[in-house]
Amino acid sequence: MNVCKDFLVIGSGVAGLTFALKVSEFGSVGILTKDVLEESATKYAQGGIASVMADDDSCDLHARDTMEAGRGLCREEVVRIICKEGPARVRELIGLGAKFDRVHGKDYHLSREGGHSKSRILHATDLTGWEIERTLIDAVREKPNIEIFPHHMVIDLITRAKVDPSVTPGSGEDESLGLYALDTKTKKVKTFLSKVTFLASGGAGKVYLYTSNPDTATGDGVAIAYRAGVKIANMEFFQFHPTCLFHPQAKSFLISETVRGEGGLLRRKNGQTFMEKYHPLGCLAPRDIVARAIDFEMKQSGEECVYLDMTHIEGYRSRERFPNIYKTCLRFGFDMSKEPIPVVPAAHYMCGGVVVDINGQTNIRGLLASGEVCCSGLHGANRLASNSLLEGLSLSHRGVAKAASLLGRSGSLENFKNKIPKWDSGNAVDSDESVVVSHNWDEIRRLMWNYVGVVRSDKRLQRAERRIKLLLDEIQEYYWNFKITKDTLELRNIAITAQLIIQGARLRKESRGLHFNLDHPEKDDVNWKRDTELQDTTARLITMNMKKTPSQ
Ligand code: SIN
Repeated sequence: MNVCKDFLVIGSGVAGLTFALKVSEFGSVGILTKDVLEESATKYAQGGIASVMADDDSCDLHARDTMEAGRGLCREEVVRIICKEGPARVRELIGLGAKFDRVHGKDYHLSREGGHSKSRILHATDLTGWEIERTLIDAVREKPNIEIFPHHMVIDLITRAKVDPSVTPGSGEDESLGLYALDTKTKKVKTFLSKVTFLASGGAGKVYLYTSNPDTATGDGVAIAYRAGVKIANMEFFQFHPTCLFHPQAKSFLISETVRGEGGLLRRKNGQTFMEKYHPLGCLAPRDIVARAIDFEMKQSGEECVYLDMTHIEGYRSRERFPNIYKTCLRFGFDMSKEPIPVVPAAHYMCGGVVVDINGQTNIRGLLASGEVCCSGLHGANRLASNSLLEGLSLSHRGVAKAASLLGRSGSLENFKNKIPKWDSGNAVDSDESVVVSHNWDEIRRLMWNYVGVVRSDKRLQRAERRIKLLLDEIQEYYWNFKITKDTLELRNIAITAQLIIQGARLRKESRGLHFNLDHPEKDDVNWKRDTELQDTTARLITMNMKKTPSQ
């Protein structure tokens, strides 16, 4: 079955929905999401959205803080544009009905987070992401020319290089023609054709054993883009959030940085504070520094966690300012207004990804990207807290003009659409060994946590490289022989994403921002003040007809 749209959007978080909503003025839109529309990392964002709203703040200061956190790898033009256009994007959201907290019903209440020199985080108590997601979903549902495809998992992109042998994957002539997706309810593969494809599929926290991310964050966007020959950069910069609840059943529940912004203090088990040893901003130092400090303290003391203490702050402030965090902690037996809560770092945000320009354009014409999946140059080597929702809003807004301009491009899709074959499962059979999938999945997440975590070394990275190669071979074999399922697709994506993180980390022989290597502990501006770019130039996994021609 073929579905034809002007614009296809992969993902339903802030980036995908913003783009879909705005671009629907120019043509028909299909949103593909592998779960239900509401399920995305955006929904779980607690802290808020960074934007200059106060008189004592300025876009220059926001840009300066962003670049300071990014440790020399931010693209200044991108940072300045996003910080400058941020307040207008936030006002649009408010115009659509998003309600952010105000002080006595007047000015917006602005929180502070690590690395910000001013209070500039708009929030809706501690459920900001859900407020944004809800607002955008309401607006999207009102647009008659947006069709939603829930439970549709993208398998691979269809690019011109796949149907036109004269075009090299990822080259200047390559362009996006659509994608194959698995309807995970009917288990049928469908072909989707489009003039523009917009990748907004989020991050990859599930590549690590402990993560604040939802189960959907399996690196799908980066992996499918890489297989199509798209440039990927800076994958070694994976952000670990310093404070996730330490409890076996809590699935690394996030304790927002705004808790520290309200005065929360990090302590050892014996009650001593420690952040003052590591940075003049103490508990509000940038995230890389706080996460590493906690890792160091835990290793030194042999304790399993550190503690976040709010008890010196009036009880109502934790209950009313953080109702979701308060209730969740209580459910696990901790009353944060009365006792310090146990916390540990966990994988939180992928700062690298699909390389895009300031309009979201990748190196493949007609393929755009925004949000966590992309590497726009806003975050550099470390993302400033609460800049991600802002990036999703801004870049997706800018992508609309670019996408609309591509609608009129002279017709590759028309010329090639009859050459695009239907998905063919070849001789694949149903798997009778799904334990292989769960086993490999578990192994990848453990090896990433143990060897490619907060602190790395050459030896650990080498080990990780050897193991991921073996696992990838096994996964590929499994992929060819058995009928695809959501689990096998996610496994393949997570393995490729892990490999890209390891490759980036192996290449970068220095320590900068989120990448810390014990064997190269210093920043090396002479050799490494640059991005680590990765591209599958052989495009060995790009096969038009994946099952029949595995050797291509
Ligand atoms: C948090 O609330 O601490 C998370 C915000 C973010 O990651 O930007």
